[in-house]
Amino acid sequence: MRARFAPGSPLRGSIAAPPDKSISHRAALFGAMSAEPVHVTGYLDAADTRSTLAAVAALGARIEERGPGALVIHGTGLRGAASGVAIDVGNAGTLLRLLPGWLAGQAGKTWTLDGDESIRRRPVDRIARPLAAMGAQLEAREDRFTPLAITGRRLTAIDYELPVASAQIKSCVLLAGLLADGTTTVIEPEPSRDHTERLLVRAGAPLRRDGDRVAVTGVDGVALDEIHVPGDPSSAAFHAAAAVLVPGSRIVIEGMAANWTRVGFFRILERMGAPLSGALEDPHAAAVDTEPVCALEVAPGPLHGTTVTPAEVPLAIDELPLVALLGCFAEGETVVQGAQELRVKESDRIATVVDGLGALGADIEATEDGFAVRGTGGLRGGVLHAHGDHRLAMLGAVAGLASREGVEVDGMEAAAVSYPGFADDLAALTRRSRGATG
Ligand code: S3P
Repeated sequence: MRARFAPGSPLRGSIAAPPDKSISHRAALFGAMSAEPVHVTGYLDAADTRSTLAAVAALGARIEERGPGALVIHGTGLRGAASGVAIDVGNAGTLLRLLPGWLAGQAGKTWTLDGDESIRRRPVDRIARPLAAMGAQLEAREDRFTPLAITGRRLTAIDYELPVASAQIKSCVLLAGLLADGTTTVIEPEPSRDHTERLLVRAGAPLRRDGDRVAVTGVDGVALDEIHVPGDPSSAAFHAAAAVLVPGSRIVIEGMAANWTRVGFFRILERMGAPLSGALEDPHAAAVDTEPVCALEVAPGPLHGTTVTPAEVPLAIDELPLVALLGCFAEGETVVQGAQELRVKESDRIATVVDGLGALGADIEATEDGFAVRGTGGLRGGVLHAHGDHRLAMLGAVAGLASREGVEVDGMEAAAVSYPGFADDLAALTRRSRGATG
């Protein structure tokens, strides 16, 4: 599907950030692992998170839908997943990497996981390796890709130093640790999103954090009665970037998760000169078992280039395409370093962002571990191909509003992976200003 995004209208008014994708995946998994019903509110209704609901249902959980985003999940208990199931993860990398952590410790049962064309290009050896070290049996195509066959075994705890700062690998190993004998420790090279840890604490699991180490001890079961999913900072980031780039805008994003491990993009935005206000979580006073939310006010400001360092990358990983777009409008150079992980996202996001924005007139080049953009103060416009990547599609839309000639996004339907209402929400924000100015 092709969709055109024209420049001109400022963004005005307030918008509720759509439900968080990462926390929705985890809510479904924790619901399935629990023996008692778990009430979930604010669950994201999008392709990725529907894949997770379908997966846990296939594994034996019963999902009761009580209204938009309101679910009661009747789980199977920690060791009660149905065996012999072929799971289709669709486009969802988080499901692909987290679910095996739960399954690997259920001895004697078997499953296979596979997904769409993009999933088939994304590595699973990053989780197969630690799970095998704990005692599970895994077989992946070419030792690296789906289909992934899992045979559950009784697991032994390990200490695992993550080769890359990845919340998916960390979460997988911690979930496996829940079913293992002993205490499993994950050592992180840099902090990454910690939703799994916060939920584990809520679920009564023995979890300890000490600097870069997170440890969990095996248990018989988990207990959680309710999970509320806050708004998604990664989805809200697209509206925020549009409001920063389109002159005359001023928006408020309501109900957005303020977890410090998720809001790195907004810190970068502030550093580039955008006026933001909102109670983002302070890393030194972070919550242990809750997800704080905030209302964020965003308006344009003269931007200057910045360097995003490797330590910041995991805290803004899904928003880095937007940093490239902002860099086009900033004075000076914007560089992203230490972001090789972008190569194994829904698309190779170093290539697709550099080619995509380059075709719209950006002065951008790929580097080995990220990209460098020289700000020219604007962007011409043209056609951007989404390559089936939801964040690329939304990037093209925001680029269109900020450009001189508009952008046609080829493959806009990809946005439905994380944010089906994206184009409508964006249109509502621009309509308000048209209404207001007559
Ligand atoms: C996610 C972690 C990140 C992120 C992805 C969601 C998660 O992936 O890019 O969209 O929910 O744990 P990595 O762990 O591969 O960095």
